[in-house]
Amino acid sequence: MQAEERGRFCSKLGVILASAGSAVGLGNVWRFPSEVGSNGGAAFILVYLCFVFLIAMPVMIAEFVIGRRSKRNTVDAYRVLAPRARWWMVAGYLGVLGGVLVLSFYSVVAGWTLRYMVDTFLCRMPSGQDYGAVFSSFAANPWKPLLYQLVFLAMTHLIVSRGVERGIEKFSKVMMPLLLVIIVVLMGYSLTMPGAADGISFLLRPDFSKVTGSVVLSAIGQAFFSLSVGMGCLITYSSYFSKDTRLVSSAFSVCAIDSVVAILSGLVIFPAVFSVAGVEPDAGPGLVFITLPYVFDTAFSGLPVVGYVFSGFFYVLLLLAALTSTISMHEIVTAFIREKFNVSRQRAAIAVTAVCMVLGAACCLSFGVWQGVRVAGMGFFDLFDFTVAKFLMPFGGIMISLFVGWYMKRQLVVEELTNGGTLKVRCLGVLLFLIRWVAPTGVAIVFINELIN
Ligand code: PHE
Repeated sequence: MQAEERGRFCSKLGVILASAGSAVGLGNVWRFPSEVGSNGGAAFILVYLCFVFLIAMPVMIAEFVIGRRSKRNTVDAYRVLAPRARWWMVAGYLGVLGGVLVLSFYSVVAGWTLRYMVDTFLCRMPSGQDYGAVFSSFAANPWKPLLYQLVFLAMTHLIVSRGVERGIEKFSKVMMPLLLVIIVVLMGYSLTMPGAADGISFLLRPDFSKVTGSVVLSAIGQAFFSLSVGMGCLITYSSYFSKDTRLVSSAFSVCAIDSVVAILSGLVIFPAVFSVAGVEPDAGPGLVFITLPYVFDTAFSGLPVVGYVFSGFFYVLLLLAALTSTISMHEIVTAFIREKFNVSRQRAAIAVTAVCMVLGAACCLSFGVWQGVRVAGMGFFDLFDFTVAKFLMPFGGIMISLFVGWYMKRQLVVEELTNGGTLKVRCLGVLLFLIRWVAPTGVAIVFINELIN
């Protein structure tokens, strides 16, 4: 398939915002604060940032090298670059599988977000109730969460089927700046709430006694998930980069934007959480759907209108972040099907959406009527989450860094990183060392540790 037909990103800003859109997602606004909360605050953040720049960023750059060099979907990329070692394509197939699984469970949480957003704006959020019970009864309802999830998947579908430039790039260019504006405004308000100082110090003052083995493991898992690396998502996106896209500096920008958004999300959430007496920051995944509605309700009891606007925009933020990520998960699979079976983008996208609707429904129902259906002791939602975060992403990360670090000719890699010698990349030697040695061993240690546990 020709490059023109495949589509491509038309501007430098488009490249960065689309990739940052993939990275910035529920992982930043929902998962990061809850991980920070349950892993002891600032110390976790420091460990996390080290992993982002020393391990996840090199893997991201390796994905960019594979994608732009091959200009193919994540499976065919390995076929083209390693014609005599076709087993590398396993890494591509696992990425496609990962794309389906992650979209299926992620869209459940995105569906919850959509419902919380709609209800907040319609002033239908319950007040003064047991928020845990409200949330569980919604999530367990046999059709309501499903409906919201389907609407969300349909939104993702519409964007992806419009194509790379008119869909993904255009949408990311509007939504990412909007998302940044919303987060900064919300943070500004949150920081003026009483008790905000405690939230800030929880987030920014490290206590290294809290750094245990499991904190380290959580940090690396979070870094991979948050940057969308290890699944070929960025191989797919970078196959739409142009020949003068700067791979290293783009990756650095994406990692920086992602980390800033994660920390800003913490600065939105924790000052608010600490402003209400008796609320603990370590509620885990329930933080956003159980703790925060209570916080919003209590903190704004004298100012209901401000409360509705603040919490409504918080859920808009979460929804936009989710959407720019789900289009990238969808695109991994759509690009593969389209090129593998030589069908139109629209048809490929319909197939992907249909499969994810079915698997996604299984994830959604695992909070309610299918609670009893267990595979390896887990419901579908947890099973998919576990398979992606604990297995497919780290395994993919190892394969990708080994492929670029050891299998590809060094000269080709350098050619990609320097755009054919026209760019001077500072610390090129260090970067290659990180890709060859640090990333694969670092991830392998974590991976093996997880398997043993
Ligand atoms: N990075 C996204 C987030 O932070 C999640 C994601 C994972 C996106 C894998 C694409 C692929 O929410």
